[in-house]
Amino acid sequence: MSFLGIDIGTSGLRALLVDEGGAVLGTAEQHYTTSHPHSGWSEQDPAVWIAALEGAVAQLRHRPEFSGLRGIGVAGHMHGAVLLDSDDKVLRPCILWNDSRSHTEAHALDARPEFRAISGNIVFPGFTAPKLEWLRKHEPDVFARVAKVLLPAAFLNLYLTGDHVADMSDSAGTSWLDVAARDWSEVLLKNSHMRADQMPRLVEGSTEAGVLRAALEREWGLAGRVSVAGGAGDNAAAACGLGTMHEGQGFVSLGTSGVVLLARDRFCPAPQNALHSFCHAVPDRWYQMGVMLAAADSLTWLSSITGAKPQVLTEALGSQIKAPGPVGFFPYLSGERTPHNDATIRAGFIGIGKDSSREDLTQAVLEGVCFGLRDSFEAITATGARIDRLYAIGGGSASVYWLSLLATVLKTPLHIPEGREFGAALGAARLGMTAALGANVAQVMHPAPTAQVIKPVASLIDAFDAAYADFRAGYAILKSHPRAGLQ
Ligand code: XUL
Repeated sequence: MSFLGIDIGTSGLRALLVDEGGAVLGTAEQHYTTSHPHSGWSEQDPAVWIAALEGAVAQLRHRPEFSGLRGIGVAGHMHGAVLLDSDDKVLRPCILWNDSRSHTEAHALDARPEFRAISGNIVFPGFTAPKLEWLRKHEPDVFARVAKVLLPAAFLNLYLTGDHVADMSDSAGTSWLDVAARDWSEVLLKNSHMRADQMPRLVEGSTEAGVLRAALEREWGLAGRVSVAGGAGDNAAAACGLGTMHEGQGFVSLGTSGVVLLARDRFCPAPQNALHSFCHAVPDRWYQMGVMLAAADSLTWLSSITGAKPQVLTEALGSQIKAPGPVGFFPYLSGERTPHNDATIRAGFIGIGKDSSREDLTQAVLEGVCFGLRDSFEAITATGARIDRLYAIGGGSASVYWLSLLATVLKTPLHIPEGREFGAALGAARLGMTAALGANVAQVMHPAPTAQVIKPVASLIDAFDAAYADFRAGYAILKSHPRAGLQ
């Protein structure tokens, strides 16, 4: 028996084939790009995810175990609006999680007390409901034709099963879900000019959403029933991959976005701290999360303007972290969520001199991202949540320098899981397995073994505490700049 986990990431799709013990049988990766038609806009054509899925399956099909496929789980970047007409045709490119065009609409919805009260969250500009409000104003013809709104993972569920079905963890990021009740809220839908029939059916991420369409079963050379799980938003899926399911267990992710996530046994909304409080991908569990919009994305940006690969940039710093450098970086390339909820703020460097080198800028970017994650970490710990074990995952965690810096800035040891690169895809495969076998969640979602613990560098903690205080002051400086907010 084998199980397939699919992770629709922002920069590409990863697929992971595992056996019933969770051992990796094969992996495949496909890349795609994001278009930014205007500053703050971010779009992808959903057709590229389908092409990437087919490409990944073509890579994995030659494995003998593929024919024993029994379950599939899909994880996806959250909040994106895939808009379908009544024939399930995609009406326009998907507006992504880091697109901030709908900030005016988001603030208007957020000002209505029902949204925070029922969804438990700020209506952030990246969330789905304000995107539809933007569309109603700016593309009314498209808005009028919307028969269904699916998140990216649910769009793949549709491709796989032929049914409109989404899980609760992803749906919690729409601003249309009653997150405590784990169901669509008629009140929130009505307040943002939407209807319940435009929403997909809801299931828990670890239960069956449907079965693989007969046509795909044939094309992929499969025989026998293949179950498709509800799936998850990518962060909940990563938590499932790491076994981060209970109080005290969390992770920090240096992905395109930066995330500090803590599993919770109950729903603990804290919108006043600009935290996200969402359903987990398994029943009766929730999680709390701080999100920064440009984590590894900040390094990708530096790489694009210097012409040096991210790995080349980080390796030039060596592996021993240095004291905070003279150059500072504020990582607000796409605005920021936690703690500022500010879509129009933009990034900045400070302290550049004629002697500043590419290495100084790299160091500043890595430090700025760690400080941004400390903001999320502080927002979570301020709720009284306990952190017993914090894993570190995401593309940026390949840099030893960055990990050591992050542990020092957070003043917390970081557990590097074995097979760290598989986070959300492994979680998705585990969801697929749980749904297909009707397995016990606790048995499948066991904690990932720690391959290494990265400890804070004690001699630099005070220096980074002081630099973090400077970073906190920087937001007001950027905000006071006459060109701030002109996006
Ligand atoms: C979470 C968020 C991002 C995306 C992309 O709220 O917007 O983490 O899920 O990974």
